[in-house]
Amino acid sequence: MNELAIELNEVLKTSLCYSLLSEEGKRLYFPKGIVAQAAEAGEKAKKYNATAGLATKAGQPFHFSDIMDMYKDGVFKPSDIFSYAPGGGDKKLRKLWKEEMIRKNPTLKGKKFGEPLVFGGLTHAISVAATLFVPAGSTVVCPDLFWDNYDLIFSDLRGAELKFFKFFNDEGHLNVEGMKKALLECPGDARIILNFPNNPTGYSPSVKEKDAIVKALKEVAKVKKVFVIIDDAYFGLFFEEETNKESLFADLVDLDENIFVAKGDAATKEYMVWGFRIGFLTFGGKGLSDDVYDALSKKALGAIRCTVSNCDRPGQSMLVKALEEGKNTKRDMDDLFGEMKERYLALKEALKKHEDEYDLLKPYPFNSGYFMAFSTLGRSAEGLRSYLLDKYQAGTVNIFDKTLRVAFCSVEKDKIRDLVDVIYKAAGELWN
Ligand SMILES: Cc1ncc(COP(=O)(O)O)c(C=O)c1O
Repeated sequence: MNELAIELNEVLKTSLCYSLLSEEGKRLYFPKGIVAQAAEAGEKAKKYNATAGLATKAGQPFHFSDIMDMYKDGVFKPSDIFSYAPGGGDKKLRKLWKEEMIRKNPTLKGKKFGEPLVFGGLTHAISVAATLFVPAGSTVVCPDLFWDNYDLIFSDLRGAELKFFKFFNDEGHLNVEGMKKALLECPGDARIILNFPNNPTGYSPSVKEKDAIVKALKEVAKVKKVFVIIDDAYFGLFFEEETNKESLFADLVDLDENIFVAKGDAATKEYMVWGFRIGFLTFGGKGLSDDVYDALSKKALGAIRCTVSNCDRPGQSMLVKALEEGKNTKRDMDDLFGEMKERYLALKEALKKHEDEYDLLKPYPFNSGYFMAFSTLGRSAEGLRSYLLDKYQAGTVNIFDKTLRVAFCSVEKDKIRDLVDVIYKAAGELWN
């Protein structure tokens, strides 16, 4: 059990509450992970705040100007804002999302898969996928560089075990062999969560690496059933030519009768509405019938019904209106992409200057998304994070004391070079 949960349980043992706790209740705690560190940086990181997975410019979140313009009288009927949204989400939004999914993933054209359902953000969608398909005591394969909330969802909430494989092999490529081995070693059915662009490294597979992943999953499916959760939180922010630009879902959805896939999407991130809490979950698998898809939807609806009952209405209405009628949506999306790509290129350039210091702090390969991350090569990432914050007012994120994550989505381009210099300076002061 996590130490933080143990500490909380010790406090609760002084009351009747402890003996009333469920097993999940005993395991749960609030991690000192990304959210807590971002809150601390909010107070102290006066110069650079590279903590949160939220894209900002001039201190404000990127956004659709069309949505900002909707905040005035007369744009909506009260029923578009104040009534409950339909179970599973606004029908128009679901239809638009499916169309967008096919537009962005041409490989999906003509393939059969389920209807996207709306959730209260992607976290909720992943948590529901886990509730439905990750039993207590089962094993979920996960790269060793992963979003820390998976630990809370799969291990602490669901009571499953995360089984890690090294994300990169010694040549700095995706460790597809390691992934396959971990899947084959799972007792019984295999389960896996894959997230590209990856949080925390900002890495997405090349087309060649994607093909290798697909081939490996097909091979595993020869000997066991495989459940794949695809976390597409940062979909679309691909900055290099050779990167695979489609979701893995598009290849897996009709790959093998023994493979079942749940694709999680984040309107929160992709469409810059972080606070609206809109995510999607879509199921797919070769040969699944309409009746099966219908039953899957109803299971997911049941999970929504008994958790949040229903998802946010105003956000869905606004997103539909922006996607259907917005005059500037393309411009605003292009603006986000252009800005992220410029920051990405500035970061690559800034890192080059420190190549001879990579034995101090080694950048993991990155080519997409909001983040890059350093391996602290066995030294304390928490030590470096707190030193950077206290001495240089620079906010970064420590992950499991061995990785330092930099969210360039929230650092202006003209500050990126300085931030990288400061990170290496601090590491030198601490460790040289
Ligand atoms: C990899 C990954 N998946 C899922 C999420 C959840 O996104 P949402 O804000 O929609 O819950 C995040 C958010 O930080 C993330 O980094």
